[in-house]
Amino acid sequence: MVRWPFVGSARHFEIVGADGAYLIASDGRRILDAAGGAIVSNVGHGRASVARAVADATQNETYVVPPWLTKSRRRLLERLERDWLSPRFPAMHLTSGGSEAVETAMKIAIQYHAARGEPERRQIIGRDVSYHGTTLATTAVGGHEARKKGLAHVLARYPKAPTPYPLRCPLGAHHPNAGRYYADALEATIAREGAATIAAFLAEPITGSSGGAIVPPDDYWPAVRRICDRHGILLIADEVMTGFGRTGRKFGHQHWPIEPDVLVAGKGLAGGYAPIAGVYATAAIADAISSAGMNVMFHTFGAHPASCAAAEEVLRILTDEHLVERCAERGERLQKRLVQAFSNHPHVAEVRGRGLLQAIEIVADRATLAPFPIEANVTDRVVGAALSRDVFFYPGGTGVVRDIVCLGPPFTIDDSEIERMVEVLEASVDDAVRRANS
Ligand SMILES: Cc1ncc(COP(=O)(O)O)c(C=O)c1O
Repeated sequence: MVRWPFVGSARHFEIVGADGAYLIASDGRRILDAAGGAIVSNVGHGRASVARAVADATQNETYVVPPWLTKSRRRLLERLERDWLSPRFPAMHLTSGGSEAVETAMKIAIQYHAARGEPERRQIIGRDVSYHGTTLATTAVGGHEARKKGLAHVLARYPKAPTPYPLRCPLGAHHPNAGRYYADALEATIAREGAATIAAFLAEPITGSSGGAIVPPDDYWPAVRRICDRHGILLIADEVMTGFGRTGRKFGHQHWPIEPDVLVAGKGLAGGYAPIAGVYATAAIADAISSAGMNVMFHTFGAHPASCAAAEEVLRILTDEHLVERCAERGERLQKRLVQAFSNHPHVAEVRGRGLLQAIEIVADRATLAPFPIEANVTDRVVGAALSRDVFFYPGGTGVVRDIVCLGPPFTIDDSEIERMVEVLEASVDDAVRRANS
């Protein structure tokens, strides 16, 4: 008997179709994909033009080693350069997933310093609430405790700075000095470790599902950029979740007047039609590595032609249908409706997010922000209750941070779908809280 998934329990249905914002199950249910899968689907499901592009690449370019150009690879690189990336990032490396891309970015940062004669810069600072992937290095640099279970004893030590969490800032909720507080905490981490040992600071501009769409105070990122510059530390922005329009800008860091040195972005790049992510870096970084005779090794399936073809067509759709602008507008609408539904809810501490990356945080006590006990499984109960009403939300949190429910629908959703998401979320939170309190 096949065991699927490897551990955990299987769903009692199979998906046989995908159309717009819906997944269609074998029993005929149409499930509203309010999470775009794992916050991936941006142009919606079932686009025939993407399927045609993939078919063409499969037929004509089947498999070609990553460093060679193919038609679909060249067209994707040209489109990225023309429509999406700042001229600051001419050096591109494509992988098949976010973990591979983040780990490559970490390696690039270490190689860059080694190439310039500073091999002692070998540490990468991560943050205490974060997710960067599932390899040993990305698990270790991340701050997702639940995903370290059974691994913690072998994970390398990576220094951590606190993730800005305005709701739970030690100075007080949404304290006006919160941005400064968290930037100072990064500075303190650097001082403790020794700036000369740090290669890079790795962070999500808006914390994804681990923290639940946490938006930092406006002065945080400019301060972090100054700190990194002052100490010669590279800034790596992990935009695997926030990239390619998800937060209503092309990239999440663009909500602030900063640019990272290395940008990583995946999920939305091909909108779920094919596995692909990328690392984008400055010419200075690529030149240093290349002049020292070092290589940035490819993954066998990196820049796969079918994935490049899917990505190129998804990016075309995003641009031609003005979907990033639509995401910003839809996101405001969704957030407004969530705030209306939950601002007086006794068990919802906060609605937060940007664009169509939104989340709610559920608490046992809104006054003290105390969470429900972990055994109450509130997040899973909310997601389960919503699925029984044919709406899929994405469970967030880290085990330590809880109970987070994320929303990340396709950018094409209409008003009635927004209404349905909000209604079902309200009913599902009430169901879950009632059971947790009983
Ligand atoms: C911010 C961030 N980084 C990295 C990853 C890892 O990407 P993947 O699951 O494609 O390996 C994720 C996945 O959720 C993510 O959200």
